Amino acid sequence: METTKLRMQGIQKEFAGVKALDGVNFELQPGEVHALLGINGAGKSTLIKILSGVYQKDAGSIQLDGKSIEINSTQDAINNGIATVYQDPQMIPSFTGYENIYLGAETEKKGLFPRINKRNLREKAEALLERFPVNIDLDRTVSELSAVEKEIIAVLRALSKEMTILILDEPTSILTETETEVLFRLIHVLKERKVAIIYITHRLEEIFQIADRLTILREGKNVATLSTNDDETNNHLAVAELMLGKKLDKIYPEKSTSIGDEKLSVDNFSLAGSFNNVAFKVHGGEILGIFGLVGSGVEELGKTLFSVIPKTSGTVRMNGAELSLSSANEAISNGIFLVPGDRRDEGQINDEPIYFNVSLSNLKRVSRATGLIDHKREKHCVQELVDQVQLAARDINQEVSLLSGGNQQKVVISKGLFTESQVYIFAEPTVGVDVGAKTGIYHLIRNLAEQGKAIIIISSDCEEVFGMCDQAMVLYKGHVTLQKSVHECRLEEMLLCGVTGGKTSE
Ligand SMILES: Nc1ncnc2c1ncn2[C@@H]1O[C@H](COP(=O)(O)OP(=O)(O)OP(=O)(O)O)[C@@H](O)[C@H]1O
Ligand SMILES: [Mg+2]
Repeated sequence: METTKLRMQGIQKEFAGVKALDGVNFELQPGEVHALLGINGAGKSTLIKILSGVYQKDAGSIQLDGKSIEINSTQDAINNGIATVYQDPQMIPSFTGYENIYLGAETEKKGLFPRINKRNLREKAEALLERFPVNIDLDRTVSELSAVEKEIIAVLRALSKEMTILILDEPTSILTETETEVLFRLIHVLKERKVAIIYITHRLEEIFQIADRLTILREGKNVATLSTNDDETNNHLAVAELMLGKKLDKIYPEKSTSIGDEKLSVDNFSLAGSFNNVAFKVHGGEILGIFGLVGSGVEELGKTLFSVIPKTSGTVRMNGAELSLSSANEAISNGIFLVPGDRRDEGQINDEPIYFNVSLSNLKRVSRATGLIDHKREKHCVQELVDQVQLAARDINQEVSLLSGGNQQKVVISKGLFTESQVYIFAEPTVGVDVGAKTGIYHLIRNLAEQGKAIIIISSDCEEVFGMCDQAMVLYKGHVTLQKSVHECRLEEMLLCGVTGGKTSE
């Protein structure tokens, strides 16, 4: 019998009074894909950060191939063959893709005047990329890359090292289905080479596709370790309820029954190279869902509506009056707000407290007549809001960077809600959010609609659009391929229009 690759036992970790891990056990066999599951804040990232040397455990033991080891630094982890793709990978934006792949490794070249051999790195990166069936320009700087491309660079960086354990912390949260398949193919190759993989995700359907076993954590403790071949556990609902520790509520709220006056109307709206001739109307009380995969133009459509990107042509009317917007600030003062999808570089200021991040979006709301900020009111208002989104934080003075990924997303949502706009555009509102909190966010969005706001949800998750929205629009390669009331629409039809433009493959 093969020896167990990894055995973590009784792992404890506390952060300033927060017990992130309370005696967690975790095992990994060679060639196994082991999913690590739990709601936001359950302790998943903390556990893998202990394994990758980012954090030091307070107590517990780690055995690798039957031998006890201590991991005191990220270098220790790498030396032990443990490679990691983090949930929020750190990169140097002004460096190229290939430089970021070999970040830290390039200084190995010794000598009187150590110099980075860029050509060498470039060739190594190119060879690595060939093993990965995706196309990406390694010479572009990371600041020019899309979120997906950045993720690929982070995966390549992990693969550039000799490893027997690969940790993937929510690798697919921003990937499309096709890109996820690419990643899965790669995981299969690694499995055959006996690499053991820890896979963290909130997309439960993926687990049954890719994982052999799953371990569920709740509040820093083990809940269960199950085999995905077991019929009884081979079921999303059972897993979701184990994660939550309670029965799951209905995921999507009821749809709207009464629709108000027209709020936003958009005609002939185009951005050269991204989307063409888009037209729609959204009424107060109504949610319009725009579904499209990465590259379909939906991301740019959201940003153009918010005037972060200038449109090529088209008109936008608010309550019947034409708007001419040339910046996001003008959009905000005209009652349009975009809650961005990529919280890593658009949504938040990491090293500032929660309340600051939230109130920043609408300082007027918490300012005195003199223009000075009324801090008491500020904190009170923010507290009310974070209670509504069920933010799990010590308190609102906590730095955003210390929150778990899903809770950071809730800060971004709170920030949007703080603005009191007429039209809200939510871009990928539930990326990285657990099933329980997802439902909470959906209800918040529906509440906003019920208060008479007009809502647009932009999402690469077809089910989300189908479940949440009253009207649906689908974009494929910049063209509208479907536009109708969700009541008259089937999920399969919507998916097909987004993935193939509406053509069935013959
Ligand atoms: N550096 C830190 N300082 C203080 N608290 C922390 C720190 N890192 C994590 N925590 C806290 O530890 C708990 C576990 O967080 P962790 O990031 O491991 O959750 P997670 O399961 O990865 O959640 P998510 O699904 O949202 O990514 C949370 O309460 C979090 O706020
Ligand atoms: Mg996490």
